Order: sequence, then structure tokens, then C-alpha cells
Amino acid sequence: MPSQAVFDFKEKAVYTTSTGAPVSQPYAAQRIGKYGPLLLQDFHHVDVLAHFARERIPERVVHAKGAGAHGYFEVTHDITDLTCAALFDAIGNKAPVTVRFSTVIGEAGTSDSARGPRGMGIKIKTEEGNLDWVFNHTPVFFIRDPAKFSPFVHAQKRDPQTHLRDPDMSWDYLSQNPESIHQVMILFSDRGTPAGYHRTHAYSAHAFKFVNSEGKFVYVKIHVINDAGCKTMTAVEATRLAGEDPDFGIKSLFNDIEAGKYPSYTVYIQTMTSEEAENFRYNILDVTKIWPQAEYPLRPVGKIVLNKNPENYFAEVEQAAFAPSHLVPGIEPSTDPVLQARLFVYPDAQRYRLGVNYGQLAINKPVVPVANFQRDGFMAIKNQGFRPPYQSSILPLQYKAKAYEHVEHEVFLGAALADLSEVTELDFEQPRALWSKVLNDEDRAHLVSNVAGHLGSAKSAEIKARQLSVFAAVDQGLADRIADAIGVLRVQPLKVKPAEEALRFRSSVIV
Ligand code: HEM
Repeated sequence: MPSQAVFDFKEKAVYTTSTGAPVSQPYAAQRIGKYGPLLLQDFHHVDVLAHFARERIPERVVHAKGAGAHGYFEVTHDITDLTCAALFDAIGNKAPVTVRFSTVIGEAGTSDSARGPRGMGIKIKTEEGNLDWVFNHTPVFFIRDPAKFSPFVHAQKRDPQTHLRDPDMSWDYLSQNPESIHQVMILFSDRGTPAGYHRTHAYSAHAFKFVNSEGKFVYVKIHVINDAGCKTMTAVEATRLAGEDPDFGIKSLFNDIEAGKYPSYTVYIQTMTSEEAENFRYNILDVTKIWPQAEYPLRPVGKIVLNKNPENYFAEVEQAAFAPSHLVPGIEPSTDPVLQARLFVYPDAQRYRLGVNYGQLAINKPVVPVANFQRDGFMAIKNQGFRPPYQSSILPLQYKAKAYEHVEHEVFLGAALADLSEVTELDFEQPRALWSKVLNDEDRAHLVSNVAGHLGSAKSAEIKARQLSVFAAVDQGLADRIADAIGVLRVQPLKVKPAEEALRFRSSVIV
């Protein structure tokens, strides 16, 4: 059912063609006599047919299924020591927010209960332009080498021959790329089946840099913590919902907001100086790792409240374009290679999906005026009038100086090389802590049965054994329990390089 506002709204609009001409009978078509051919001169009917044939735009290549809402971000704590972003220059600052939640691998019609990450794209419209946080509900990711992203996604999507999701293909990829194990274990626990889109937390996963007006920076990870807590489901509940109510996530978000039960989140940051980063046990540019909260505590900075449903899903959610590269002065990307690749790929996907002027759509348009030298292209809605499209002396633009000229510790120099990470013992430490310290007995039992249900349906004995060896490298008991559950032989842990050979983080590199 639509929102109450739709029932209450008494519209007096007159039906027209797309060019505004009134039409008395929208369902009528011009033809010769009662039984003759239709007429090409009937612009209204031809236009209706032609428009209908063009209604679909490409769905997002990942994160195709989703739900969205609007609200606001409010600054609750002072972090002016860390960033000069205008958004954060005073406690109480507020900015409008649009959020889109999503599942990742399935197509636009997939179930909201599908196992996998949940995305939370957050667009904050600040007085210095849009700040997008394009986060997932897990604090780590499957890969740390960006060139693996599309092969990884392909292996999780449909088989090229059968057009079926295929457990052999899925585990074939994962077992050969064991740095994925941390994320795999989180997602095969019940955290992989959240009880609704807005019932989870969200994490930047990558380190960003917050830069203050002196050009000093700290590395920052952002956590968006649901004030109502994170709610998950068992595999049995998720499977039931996939059949009975596959859109339950969209529905519960919409209904909660309609009922005034506004989802709210507290935004925290973890920070690290570059010196701390160099002494940290893990490479801070490795998005398969977390920063332990005991060592790097959460510092509250703000809150997000979602208090408004979209009036039009397509215009306000489907056409929303979130990109990690939509940043504001005082917040910069780190050199995490996965983040660096993402800086390019999101706007590129949106140029393809929505058109080159996607930024001019109402939902993506910043609250501040845009003035630059970009012009034309399909669907140029606001083409900047008579403003010269170059640095003109006739009608010069103003240029606002950056608060900082350059960021300290930013010297990267070296020969071009083909970089590919290697797996070491270090990669199993955090998954091991997850298994032995974070999960309780019930969580562990669910993880074992969730993996067994999926890995057990792979046909290849070799793939099953290889993935079991990855689990054994985390914990032999975990691997043995899965092996027993799927009725195959127990295996030895995967042999990898020692932890000392792992790449250490250096903030400035001159080779
Ligand atoms: C190399 C790694 C990655 C690549 C190449 C990649 C690529 C993409 C692409 C092409 C889209 C569709 C964008 C659109 O059409 O608007 C997308 C959506 C998304 N990605 Fe990624 N992604 C990567 C890693 C990540 C990571 C690490 C996260 C979270 C920490 C993430 C979170 C999201 C979210 C939340 C969306 C949906 C945004 C929306 O609702 O519109 N992705 N990704």
C-alpha cells in the first residue's frame, strides 16, 4: 500500500502528452474506422509505446536490489582537530542525507534475505558539495587486489553455460584466493543474513584520511552503528522469507518510516596517525583487516536519522549515484588500492548506467551551485547558461583556496610494477580471533552448518578439500567440523608464507 500521504493528496492534475498537450482519452488510439490500422500521426499513442520500450536502464552490475530513504546527518562531537571539512566545523551542523541499502550479488529481483554483504550508500549533501560514504555491513572485504574484483564477482554470479549460481565456481574462486576468508567467515555466520536492510551497521572498511587546516592528517575508518543494534536471521528463517516475502527488507524499511519508527545510526571514527600505522601489525591499506577497537577506540562524531520515504523510487533511489570519490576538502582517500580503483569505477559505472550528466539529476545534484567548464552531453539539464566554458577573463570564476596546500607524509616514488598481494600466516589471525573469541557456541554451530550447506553442494572433491585447507589454516577444529558435516576427509591446513614476510605499511616510500 502507498503511504498515507498518497491517499491524503488530492491532485487536480490534467492528463497530458509528454509535451503538455491535454488528452481526453488516455486509453484511446487513433485508427481508420473501427477495424482499420492505427495512425502514425497519433503522437500520444506512439510516444506512450516508444517511452515504454525504453523504461529500463541497466541495473547496477553489483548491488542491483535495494531500498532507500532520506533523512539527515548531524554533527554531535567536535573533530575540528582532525578535519577542516565544513560539515564538521561546528557541533549541531546538519546536512540532508539519502541512503540506499542493497544486497550485492543477485539481480534486481533477488530476495532481501540472500546471504551476502549489505551495502549502505550514504549521500551527505554538504555546503562544500556531496560527501558519499559507500559502505558495506561488514568491516572487511573479500579482496585487496582490485584487479580481482570482476573475476570474483563473476564467480559468485551465474555460470556462463548453465546460467545458474554455481557452488563449484564460487568456492573455486574463494579457495584459490584465501585472503577472502575473513569476509567469508563473517558472511557465513548469521551476520550474512541480516533481518532487514536497516537493521545492520555499516563500515567504511577502507582507511580514509581526515586532513585538518594545517595539512596534518590521520587515517580514519568510519563506523555507522545502528542505534537499535544489528539483527540477524538464521539460514532457516532467511530461506523461508526468500519464498514467502522476498521483499521484506524494502517493506520493513518503508513501513518503519511511515510509522514514525525512524532508523537512526551513530557515526564513529577510529583514527591512526601515520606513525601508529607504521607500527601496526597489519597493513592499514589492506581492506581484509580490521583495526581492533581495544587499541583504536571508537570516537563518536555524528548521527544519521532516516525520517522520510522516497516519493518516487526510480527518481530518488534507482537514479542515486554514490561514489567513494565524491569527497569534500578535509576528507581524502588513502592509497588503499581497492579504494583507489573504486574512486574511478563508480562514476564510470554511473556514466554508463545513468548518462554522463548523472550528477545533474535532482537526487544527485549538490545543494550548492556547480560552476565549472563541463558542458553538453546527453540530458544536460543545467548547462550553466552563458558562462564561458574555459578560464575566461570576460566572466572570470572565483577560486576558493584550499585550507591546506599539501598533506604531510605524501611522498610516493618508485618504478612502475605489477603489484599483487601474497597470502601469509598474518591473514588467518583475525579470522581465527573471530572464530575463537568473537563468535559464541551457537554462532559457531551456525557458521559450520551454513558453510556445509553451500560447500557441501559443490561437486568437485578437489575444490572442497582446497577450501577446507583454508578453513584449517584458520582453525583445524573449524575445518574438521565442516568436513564431518559434508562427509569428506579431514585435511591439513593450507601452507603459506610466515607472518614476518607480510608486506609492512610505509606511509612514505622512495625506492
Ligand atoms: C575493487 C573493488 C570494487 C569495485 C570494482 C566495485 C564496483 C562497484 C560498482 C561498479 C558498483 C555499481 C555502482 C553504480 O552503478 O552506481 C558498486 C556498488 C556498490 N559498492 Fe562496490 N565495488 C568494489 C568494492 C566495494 C567495497 C570495498 C565496498 C564497501 C566497503 C563496496 C560497496 C558498494 C556499495 C554499497 C554499492 C551500492 C551503492 C548504491 O546503492 O548505489 N564496494 N560497486
